[in-house]
Amino acid sequence: MRSTLILPFLLSAANAQLNTLAVAAGLKYFGSATDNSELTDTAYVALLSDTTDFAQITPGNGQKWDSVEKSQGVFTFTKGDEITALAAKNSQLVRCHTLVWYSQLPSWVSGGTWTNETLQAVMKNHITETMTHYKGKCYAWDVVNEAFDDTSAAAFRNNVFYQAMGEDYIRIAFETARLADPDVKLYYNDYNIEYTGAKAANALTMIKKLVNGGTPIDGVGVQGHYIVGKMPTGSDITKNLEAYTALGLEVAITELDIRMTLPSTAADLAQQSTDYATAVNACLNVANSGCVGITIWDFTDKYSWIPSVFSGQGAACLFDENLVKKPAYDGVVAALTAGKKSGSASPVVVATTVASSQSASSVVPVSSPVVATPVTSSAVVSSTIAIPTASGFTTSYIPAQTSSQAAVEPSVSSEIPSATSAGAPIATSEPVADEDDCE
Ligand code: G3I
Repeated sequence: MRSTLILPFLLSAANAQLNTLAVAAGLKYFGSATDNSELTDTAYVALLSDTTDFAQITPGNGQKWDSVEKSQGVFTFTKGDEITALAAKNSQLVRCHTLVWYSQLPSWVSGGTWTNETLQAVMKNHITETMTHYKGKCYAWDVVNEAFDDTSAAAFRNNVFYQAMGEDYIRIAFETARLADPDVKLYYNDYNIEYTGAKAANALTMIKKLVNGGTPIDGVGVQGHYIVGKMPTGSDITKNLEAYTALGLEVAITELDIRMTLPSTAADLAQQSTDYATAVNACLNVANSGCVGITIWDFTDKYSWIPSVFSGQGAACLFDENLVKKPAYDGVVAALTAGKKSGSASPVVVATTVASSQSASSVVPVSSPVVATPVTSSAVVSSTIAIPTASGFTTSYIPAQTSSQAAVEPSVSSEIPSATSAGAPIATSEPVADEDDCE
């Protein structure tokens, strides 16, 4: 009996590819971030270019302000072009990232002395030049990124744009973007806005204001940088995403990764698999296919940003450092398969007791057989592993922060991962090119 269950799994796992399953489940794409320095790794590029897994890519750094316009008025698109060329070669969509962000700004912007008029002109020029260059090459642009801070009030981040133009910089950025390229999707992108709290409320208020005021905006991206076992519930994510789709916008998970303390244990990897499935289900469960896609923030631990920012943490991706699929990959496959909207024909039989790769290190023992609960399909099949539902987790999310930060809702505990000084979160200070939010 066991072999009859496992055999179909082995067959399906061989063919079980993330984008293929995502599209079958009703999404537009499943994708990954990438970065220029990784593109000399031929084994990596081969996996990234497999469009049955990744039909969309995001440049992790190559289109940011400090890469594109390091000196005022001098535009260099080399890094971004390398990514968009790869995408074109592979027929992959590109989520272009990002135009107006407090981080990774060149010092002439972050340290400049500006008036509303002078910075507005600089911002408009940056948006226009960059979007004009990439016209026709992007599925979407993250026009404004992370406009709210991480204090308990979740005020507008006091960045250089806010200081010069107030919150109006956001409206101006979107209007400029639409003029530059009327065809690309224009997104607001942020983290910690997908569970109940001040940041989610303030972001929604801002987006409503933009929509009601006729500002051209098409979508909201939630990044999804989570911690194993401590992510928001799937139902909370879905509910918050639906607040945006109710406004006529599309939504997407744009930077998903789920980190853990190193060294990882089999239990951590199993929980990570569950957590990835929760995130995927949360997107699939958004009404009327409003959640259009899922992008992971690189697919391999080999190139993840996490260890350099969160000391002692890592293993956040679907593939390990040797480019071998982890149980998390199977968790995503399981969720996408269960979420398939094309009917109840395919039973979901997934076993992480059988890793999707041959790596012994990625095998996670699962002791109790459980019943799978598909998201939208009526098929329910006894299997050798839990297929998590979107709402099956109650642990609260504990965002990373430095001790200098004010409390972050919804809960703060002593289990706060430390960030390195290089990646220290900045809730109140001036933006520095290499600093990061460390959500
Ligand atoms: O380009 C320099 C290189 O010249 C230098 O030799 C090297 C030495 O450290 O640093 C290089 O810059 C690094 C850059 O990535 C490019 O690799 C920065 O130090 C490093 O801080 C930067 O990290 C990026 C981070 O954004 C910065 O905030 C990560 O790769 C990138 O994945 C991350 O992405 C952000 C999203 O854009 C927005 N949401 C959060 C997400 C994670 O922080």
